[in-house]
Amino acid sequence: MIQPEMALPKAELHLHIEGTMEPDLVFRLARRNDVPLRFASPEALAGAYRFTSLQSFLDIYYENMAVLRQAEDFTELADDYLRRAREQGVRHAEIFFDPQAHRSRGVSAQALMTGLGESLSKSLDRFGISTGLILCFLRDQGGEAAMECLREFLPYRDQLLGVGLDSAEVGHPPSDFRAVFEVARAEGLHLVAHAGEEGPPEYVWQALDLLGVERIDHGVRCLEDPDLVRRLRDEAVPLTLCPLSNLRLKVFDSWEQFPLRRMLAENLVVSINSDDPAYFGGYVGDNYAAASRHAGLDPAAARRVAAASFEASFIDPARRADCLAELAAFG
Ligand code: HPA
Ligand code: ZN
Repeated sequence: MIQPEMALPKAELHLHIEGTMEPDLVFRLARRNDVPLRFASPEALAGAYRFTSLQSFLDIYYENMAVLRQAEDFTELADDYLRRAREQGVRHAEIFFDPQAHRSRGVSAQALMTGLGESLSKSLDRFGISTGLILCFLRDQGGEAAMECLREFLPYRDQLLGVGLDSAEVGHPPSDFRAVFEVARAEGLHLVAHAGEEGPPEYVWQALDLLGVERIDHGVRCLEDPDLVRRLRDEAVPLTLCPLSNLRLKVFDSWEQFPLRRMLAENLVVSINSDDPAYFGGYVGDNYAAASRHAGLDPAAARRVAAASFEASFIDPARRADCLAELAAFG
């Protein structure tokens, strides 16, 4: 029998496409593109996925990206994700990508957008998943590099749903990115940002007040600031939680500390997502299953979270209504 957490229709709102590259695919692409790897096998690579912090993960995440070179590599990456996502109940996915991380290898905006577009333009027909792309700026590269990146991608504006902010958080506050988010807003792009994962509640305030974001990615450290919790509740700001990620990156030392129950009791709008599933031990349905086993996500709460995932998405309204109707009829 398929577990109910898997079959439950859901949207995935916090997913880095580069974080879906499974060790087998790293090796396949390395062979195809003649890129040397320092590991002998996919199993040896997977054995290195023992993280102590966000940075310890980012180091190997960026290292593995060396194998992504051509448009068709990105098509294959996205196709592999969509196939797995369908098995995990995903009906709609808003997918992050990190263009600045591919620039050093000479991967052009055109190759990236052609490669990803080839897969995503067919996602609804092939997998029953509507999709959108969110371009993420690498916060450790600063505001000017982010602006340069946005300008390079504006010719592909129609293929973008929004912009986001990711990579090493501490020491790189949202305030550094006011100008680039202002341009993105003027372009009519949706705005999101990682904040309050390792960084302090102050970064969540800044993302809301200085960048004007519509959703906060992670945001778990908001609980340290009661005024911030009130603000998030009063304005129903969605938070995209990633339980397996937070456990693997030691944002929390144990499941007892993962604050899902508390956030639901505070009436915050939360969704459950996989972040970088090839690295953190599971896709989005696995995150629902882990939260139900370890963090108090009962079946009614799972439905509430799945409904919130569609409500918090930037999906076409008719598609949202269809997805919510399917959820209401589920089980
Ligand atoms: N946080 C910040 N940057 C990231 C993450 C994350 O969880 N995953 C991929 N890039
Ligand atoms: Zn993330």
